[in-house]
Amino acid sequence: MSHIATILLLGSGELGREFVISAKRLGARVIACDSYDNAPAMQVADACEVFPMLDGAALRAAAERHKPDLIVPEIEAIRTEMLADLEAEGFTIVPSARAAQLTMNRDAIRDLAAGELGLTTSQYGYATSLAECQAIAERIGYPLVMKPVMSSSGKGQSKVDGPEALAAAWQYAVANMRGDRARVICEQFIAFDYEITLLTVRHAGGISFCPPIGHRQERGDYRESWQPAAMSAAALAAAQDMAAKVVMALQGGGRGWGLYGVEFFVRGDEVIFSELSPRPHDTGMVTLVSQDLTEFDLHARAILGLPVPDEIAARPAASAVILADRDSDRFAFEGLAEALALGATDVRIFGKPVTRPWRRMGVALARAADAPAAVDLAKQAAAAVRIVYSPASD
Ligand SMILES: Nc1ncnc2c1ncn2[C@@H]1O[C@H](COP(=O)(O)OP(=O)(O)OP(=O)(O)O)[C@@H](O)[C@H]1O
Ligand SMILES: [Mg+2]
Repeated sequence: MSHIATILLLGSGELGREFVISAKRLGARVIACDSYDNAPAMQVADACEVFPMLDGAALRAAAERHKPDLIVPEIEAIRTEMLADLEAEGFTIVPSARAAQLTMNRDAIRDLAAGELGLTTSQYGYATSLAECQAIAERIGYPLVMKPVMSSSGKGQSKVDGPEALAAAWQYAVANMRGDRARVICEQFIAFDYEITLLTVRHAGGISFCPPIGHRQERGDYRESWQPAAMSAAALAAAQDMAAKVVMALQGGGRGWGLYGVEFFVRGDEVIFSELSPRPHDTGMVTLVSQDLTEFDLHARAILGLPVPDEIAARPAASAVILADRDSDRFAFEGLAEALALGATDVRIFGKPVTRPWRRMGVALARAADAPAAVDLAKQAAAAVRIVYSPASD
């Protein structure tokens, strides 16, 4: 059989796993790559490659060996200079090398969004020393949020309530950044009413939006997400307008097709752009039960050049994460029967080979009459699933 496309997937976590399933359902062949063997997406892919995604030479070797029609990043930390080289040589990067490059650096995407596109963001400045942080703090005031320009999942990020806490925040940021550039963004803390992810699909036929997804973050990672998030028509229109602008600006030398997770803070009718992922978003796992076409189905359709509906509807639903609390390679899940007996609930176990403190190992999903009720049910289902650890044997 000849496949609709051969896809090289860079990063093979839980989002990659669902994407592989969606792409394979449409007849694609997928080679899943990650730095460790038996990663979640590898378990459902056609083949796999194990190498660090920041290793440019290994990335090139994998591309040359498999000659993929599409190279699909699933994570942020990739040798993006190599993606740009490969794109220039004729490989198709999803959605584009420019999107991967700009979204990997908070300063690059902020310069584009606030500077070039004029989107509303929090006030901010960049610093490469504590003294520069102090200068920004004097300008924008407290509380502020300090983040390494290269980091994700809240790593190295902290809220600073006053000048006495600035030095510790700087040290924390530098100690937990990725890469070798000691550079941070200091931005105004926004006391938002709520925050959303707006899944935005750019496809051959134009741009489509999913209903907004609300989420709650703790320690830099999301705990629950729900859809649809209640939002005024004016705020939603403002978010959609900004999302379309930023997504269009990321095309560069690529096609720009794919699904993006665009993050906003909302305060009254004011919508503040935060950041975006040029790929499915973790808070979008709720779409596994809320939408007929999940965010993974939509990403697969868009990148393959297949039709995406103009209007995408969502049933009220929620997701709640299942976290580990220690390091282990001998563990099991219990309580699935209780979780699935609660009502319109479901569970996804990601199949990660080892646990770590705070590592996301699975997600509980629920549908209900409205989004708040779905959140309650999803949390109950997540709490019912327990990770049971066995003592290490050696
Ligand atoms: N300026 C801010 N004001 C208020 N809250 C903020 C601000 N910046 C970030 N946060 C909170 O911290 C969360 C994580 O921030 P951000 O999305 O910038 O980090 P991240 O490391 O890229 O996270 P992820 O990779 O999980 O999306 C946000 O979703 C929001 O809840
Ligand atoms: Mg974020």
